[in-house]
Amino acid sequence: MTANTQEQEQELDLTRACEIAEEEVGSQGPVIRVLQRVQAEYGYIPPDFLPEMAEILEVPLARIFGALTFYSQFYTEPRGKYVVKVCVGTACHVQGSKNILDRLKETLEVDAGETTPDMMFTLEPVACIGSCGLAPLCLINTETAAHMTPAGMVEKVNAIQERESAPVAEES
Ligand code: FES
Repeated sequence: MTANTQEQEQELDLTRACEIAEEEVGSQGPVIRVLQRVQAEYGYIPPDFLPEMAEILEVPLARIFGALTFYSQFYTEPRGKYVVKVCVGTACHVQGSKNILDRLKETLEVDAGETTPDMMFTLEPVACIGSCGLAPLCLINTETAAHMTPAGMVEKVNAIQERESAPVAEES
């Protein structure tokens, strides 16, 4: 866990997460439902919440860990405001997705799977997204970037950085 993440963990208020768990007591498949709802609320599953969740739902902690590791949709670390996914499936790899990933690592100064210290970007290599005709394919959150080049992705990231650092225009 990074120092950054530790700081966030210390400040995190788990009241809402506990309320969600209490609301799901007795529902069908409460473990997955609570994990989904807590992730929707916090953006990830705070690890400190898991023992409390086990207690509230009266399920073994091991079962919750099992669900967390089985479903790749769950994250136990905070992620950036923008999740940049680079498909590294075969079709995208053949068309140069590794070069895109390498350029993004350089530009964002993070390794694959990491988040920038300002919590703005998470860089994530992913397996085939299922649209191989658009290779090499990237995603920025839900926005598709088809037939991408390293320079094209850097341009998109730079545009977001500029937009995010621009002062908010005052309404007249
Ligand atoms: S290999 Fe990238 S979308 Fe299929």
